[in-house]
Amino acid sequence: MVTNRELEERVDTSDEWIVQRTGIRERHIVAEGETTSVMGIAAGRAALADAGLGPDDIDLVICATSTPDYTFPSTATQIQDGLGIRGGAAFDIQAVCTGFIYALATADKFIRSGSHRRVLVVGAETFSKILDWTDRGTCVLFGDGAGAVVVEAQEGTGALSDRGILTTQLRSDGRYRDRLYVDGGPGSTGTTGHLRMEGRDVFKFAVGKVIDVVREAFAETGAEIGDLDWFVPHQANRRIIEASADKLGIPREKVVITVDRHGNTSAASIPLALDAARKDGRIKDGHLVMLEAIGGGFTWGSALVRW
Ligand code: ACO
Repeated sequence: MVTNRELEERVDTSDEWIVQRTGIRERHIVAEGETTSVMGIAAGRAALADAGLGPDDIDLVICATSTPDYTFPSTATQIQDGLGIRGGAAFDIQAVCTGFIYALATADKFIRSGSHRRVLVVGAETFSKILDWTDRGTCVLFGDGAGAVVVEAQEGTGALSDRGILTTQLRSDGRYRDRLYVDGGPGSTGTTGHLRMEGRDVFKFAVGKVIDVVREAFAETGAEIGDLDWFVPHQANRRIIEASADKLGIPREKVVITVDRHGNTSAASIPLALDAARKDGRIKDGHLVMLEAIGGGFTWGSALVRW
């Protein structure tokens, strides 16, 4: 665990600046030898135990990550192996901070098609490996982590009272790639590269677009703000989260915020927040939960879920 005070020793920053601009107080960084798949396996194991399931019950593993252990094989196949899952398929999804929403939407569509019954969806990232630790504008914002959920097929009636994923909304616009990107890759520089970001542009874009996809999820399902039990946004920055919730008219007490504890963990941030809110008793069976995220690309999206 790395606190803001410890970062003061690395770059010209302060705990006050980081807390005031982002709400972040600490983040976790992998130890020597730990990788994205190591964390993904731990999260997957915890999700299977929580669901009362074993490796034979899973027929698809989807891992959302932008920081795979290797260019290939996929991190999902390593998680599959680490969990002892021998059947079905496994693949990665790359949509940066929106990765978990993209992965959840993919799981939902595989299940709705009837081809798969139980999907392990993992969000896992090791952003510490792609940060420029001399750039105070970015290195203070991110952390490492992983979270996972199990999505299972169940018959529904098509009503808002159904349990499961009620709708997912996915969007992207590749014109904005220069606002948030990594300046390397296997097909360009042959190096891993470092994260680069125009913070102010990302902030403005984030609030506007997030509101759009949340409203579209409501419109598609007929749900209203008042029906919502919890708003679980991508945990990038407390100010983005609060500005989005305020514009949508979602009361602050319904917003789950965990960014103070782990910084921006990209595709891992939503499952980490879900885990915290379930364990502390906020999210209960039957609750209506809105998830949303925006990330590099830009990509953005939402998912309305009945827990
Ligand atoms: N410590 C101290 N000072 C800093 C730091 C730091 N870590 N970083 C930047 N500064 C300085 C800048 O150099 C600048 O100084 P100057 O005025 O002398 O030039 C000053 O602080 C203000 O910089 P801004 O970039 O204007 O600060 P801003 O209020 O926009 O906050 C921030 C920066 C926090 C990055 C904000 O723009 C933001 O949150 N953007 C969204 C970015 C984000 O969350 N990205 C995550 C990935 S995408 C996603 O997940 C949505």
